[in-house]
Amino acid sequence: MQEVVILDFGGQYNQLIARRVRECNVYCEVKPYTTPLTEIKAKNPIGIIFTGGPNSVYEAGSPQVDPEIFTWGVPILGICYGCQLIAHHLGGKVVPASDATAREYGKTETFYDTACTLFKGLPAAGTSWMSHGDYMEKVPEGFALTAHSEGCPNVAIADEVRHFYGVQFHPEVNHTENGVAMIRNFLYAVCGAKGDWTMGDYCKTAIASIREKVGDGKVLLALSGGVDSSVAAALLAEAVGKQLTCVFVDHGLMRKNEGDEVEAAFKKWNINFVRVDAEKRFLDKLAGITEPESKRKIIGEEFIRVFEDEGKKIGKVDYLAQGTIYPDVIESGLGNAATIKSHHNVGGLPDFVDFKEIIEPLRMLFKDEVRALGRELDLPEYLVMRQPFPGPGLAIRVIGDITKDKLDILRDADFVFRDELHKEGADAALSQYFAVLTNLRSVGVMGDGRTYDYTLALRAVTTSDFMTADWARIPYDVLDRISVRIVNEVPHINRICYDITSKPPATIEWE
Ligand code: XMP
Repeated sequence: MQEVVILDFGGQYNQLIARRVRECNVYCEVKPYTTPLTEIKAKNPIGIIFTGGPNSVYEAGSPQVDPEIFTWGVPILGICYGCQLIAHHLGGKVVPASDATAREYGKTETFYDTACTLFKGLPAAGTSWMSHGDYMEKVPEGFALTAHSEGCPNVAIADEVRHFYGVQFHPEVNHTENGVAMIRNFLYAVCGAKGDWTMGDYCKTAIASIREKVGDGKVLLALSGGVDSSVAAALLAEAVGKQLTCVFVDHGLMRKNEGDEVEAAFKKWNINFVRVDAEKRFLDKLAGITEPESKRKIIGEEFIRVFEDEGKKIGKVDYLAQGTIYPDVIESGLGNAATIKSHHNVGGLPDFVDFKEIIEPLRMLFKDEVRALGRELDLPEYLVMRQPFPGPGLAIRVIGDITKDKLDILRDADFVFRDELHKEGADAALSQYFAVLTNLRSVGVMGDGRTYDYTLALRAVTTSDFMTADWARIPYDVLDRISVRIVNEVPHINRICYDITSKPPATIEWE
C-alpha cells in the first residue's frame, strides 16, 4: 500500500489533512516533525505533507526539518507554516507581515496559475482560507509563484522539477473552494498515487493493532448505543471476541424508551452485554449543579467509577475502550486547541482511572468515516445513520439544575419533536435534532387560565463533520404542527422557540 507521511508542526487542522488524504483513497500517517528522517525513509512514502503550525520559521527554536529531506527526491507539499518552512530552507526569505494587507486571516479571494500541477483542471480563481501572519518576502530559487491574492503576491509556490509545492492557505478546510481537488492533484498527479487505500484496509489495520495490544487481556467497552460506541463495539468484538464486555450505563439521562431499546438491540448480538441501572447514582451527584462544565466533569467521573466497579466484578480487566472520535478530542482542548467543552469521554475523564490503559480505536476518525467503518463491519443502516447523542445525555439539554421531573418533561417533548419530523420524512436530511428544556419560564394562557411554565427550544442542524453546522430550514407548517402537539401533549411547556444559530458562533448542544 502506498503511503503519505504528514509531518505535524502543531497546526489546528492536521487531522483534517489526514482525513482529506484518506478521502482521496491514499493511506497516510501523521508523525511529529521530530521524527528522524531514517524512520520516515523506512516507510518509503510517495509524498510528504508539512502541516501548518503556530510558530514563525525564522525564530530561534522554531520547529525545523532535517535538510536532507529536500535532497532525497520525494515530493513535498507545505501548507502555511509548512510552505514557509520550504521557502526558509531553500534560500527564500520569510518575514513578519508588517503590512496589514499581507497578513491574511479568513476567506480570501485567490487567483491560481492553472498551469501548475497543483491547480491543474481547477478554476483560476476562488475563495481560500488563510491564516498567516508571516509572509514569503523572497521566493527560493527554482520556484515559480503560482497563486496570489489582492493583498499578497506570494500565496503559492512550486518547483515542478523537484516536485516541491507550498501554499499559504489551508486547502484541507471546507472554506477553501476546490481544496480537496488540490490535495488530490498533489497525491495523484505529483506523487503518482494509485488510490489503493479503503475503509476496509483501515478496518483490517485497526483490528490487527487492537489484537496486538490486548493480547489475551480483557476489555471493557463503554457502550451507549450511539453510532460511535456501536461501531467501536463491532470493531472490538471482531478483534477480541468474548474477551470484550460491553457495559451500557443507563445514567437516567437517556431519551424516551432509549435504555430498553439499546438493551433489546445489543442483547441480540453475540457479545457479553451488561446494562447497569445507575440513574440514582448520577442524579444524586448532579443535584443542584448548574454549571455546564461541572455537569460534564461529574458525569465523566461517575462513568469511570461505574466502569471500575463493573471491571472488578468481571475481574482482571486491563483495558477500558471508548468510542471517542476526533471532534470530541479537539473540542475538549487537547493539544493546542482551546477547550470548547469537555467531552465526557475525553476532557471529562478524572485524573485517576483504575485501568491499565484506555483504548480509543476511532480517535482519529471523523463522524462520516465512523459511519463508513460501521458499514464495513456490516452494522445495520439504522444504527450507522443514528443521529449523535452526547455522552452526558439530557444533562446538557436541561439548562440549569437537573431534576427527574425536568428530565421527564424534556423526554416527552423531545419524543414528539423527533416523532413528528419522522412522520413528515424531514428527519433524513437532518444531521442532528433535539429539544432543550431552557431554564426560562414565562406567562401563557391555556383554556381560560394563566400558566407560568417552561420554554422549550428546538434545535435541528445540518453538518458533515459536526465541527461547523448550519441550522436546518424546517418548513414553518411542520414547525407549527410540532409546536401544537408539544404544548398539547406535554404538561409544563407553554412556549416553544426554534434555534436559528449556526456553529460557530453557537455550538450544536446548548451546554
Ligand atoms: P457541540 O455541541 O460541541 O457538539 O457543537 C458537537 C457534537 O458532539 C456531540 N457532543 C458530545 N458527544 N460526548 C460525546 O460523545 C460529549 O460530551 C459531547 N458533547 C457534545 C454533540 O451532540 C454534537 O453531535
